[in-house]
Amino acid sequence: MNASFLDHTFDLSFPENLDPKSTAYLNGKFLALEEAKVSVLDRGFLFADGIYEVVPVYQRSPFLWTNHLRRLVRSLAAIQLACPLHEEDWTELVHRMIDHQPFDDQFIYLQITRGSARRDHAFPQTVRPTVFAMASEFHRPSQADRENGLKAITVDDERWLRCDIKSVSLLANVLARQKAVEQGAHEAILIRDGVVTEGASSNIWLVVEGELLGHPRNNFALEGIRYGLIEELARDCGLRLSLRERSPADLARASEVLLSSATKELLAITSINQAPVAQGRPGPVFQRLRTAYDKAIEMQCLRAQRAKAAAPIN
Ligand code: PDD
Repeated sequence: MNASFLDHTFDLSFPENLDPKSTAYLNGKFLALEEAKVSVLDRGFLFADGIYEVVPVYQRSPFLWTNHLRRLVRSLAAIQLACPLHEEDWTELVHRMIDHQPFDDQFIYLQITRGSARRDHAFPQTVRPTVFAMASEFHRPSQADRENGLKAITVDDERWLRCDIKSVSLLANVLARQKAVEQGAHEAILIRDGVVTEGASSNIWLVVEGELLGHPRNNFALEGIRYGLIEELARDCGLRLSLRERSPADLARASEVLLSSATKELLAITSINQAPVAQGRPGPVFQRLRTAYDKAIEMQCLRAQRAKAAAPIN
């Protein structure tokens, strides 16, 4: 099985003896994760010059895959890196990774960097991007997380001004999240110039006067793949939703605070800076959206199963 990589072709078959628990893909080959190595000159290592995606997989079906692929292509364009694979080859690669794993629920991590070259800030002239992927078992949020919600703290948003790019340059996010962990919380809610932007690794939603509020689509936050989904689910549930700047005062008076991401799905935040959000329990908007989110996963799995059953056997 070959796919095109710029003007090269390469092998997409799995070596016979590969341990599926730790399979990775690096620059045209599937190999054991422990054997996947990149040069110290890789610009991802030296400059964080790259982008990534995290795709949840349910029952072997990548959830909202086309949207993840579109964002990956957008992120590459934003850092002026030519997309190294055709869209159908990304899809093939992701499905091959998924099929090879022993677990049904997984998440796929994809990373593309500008490749390795002599250290110089400006782009190297001729260099092949580094393309890396790995699959891990997805331990979905626990029942306790759904029932109790998560704890958060607020911190200053110290990131750069292109938070809309899913860049691997995550140091400010890492530091914010670490601060949360050190204070016994799960997530850091970031505040920039009086605006609640997002979480260190999630989008944040507030319920204020019955309306669901998300950060506008702009350069101060990453547009999570769950944005479009939540808009759709809110519509289906008859909930009002606006994307507008939210102040710390909005956060303080919110009757519910929610968080969304590929790995946390949709969860309530029930305490912020050690004070309960409203009654300190996940609220009715969360419950409705959560039920709708589960249904959306179920529907996609069903559609994927039907498509598989209808596909010609080759
Ligand atoms: N992070 N904002 C930030 C800063 C994020 O890192 C993420 C996800 C999101 C939510 O995006 P999505 O709905 O597409 O997962 C928002 C991933 C899960 C991560 O870095 O591991």
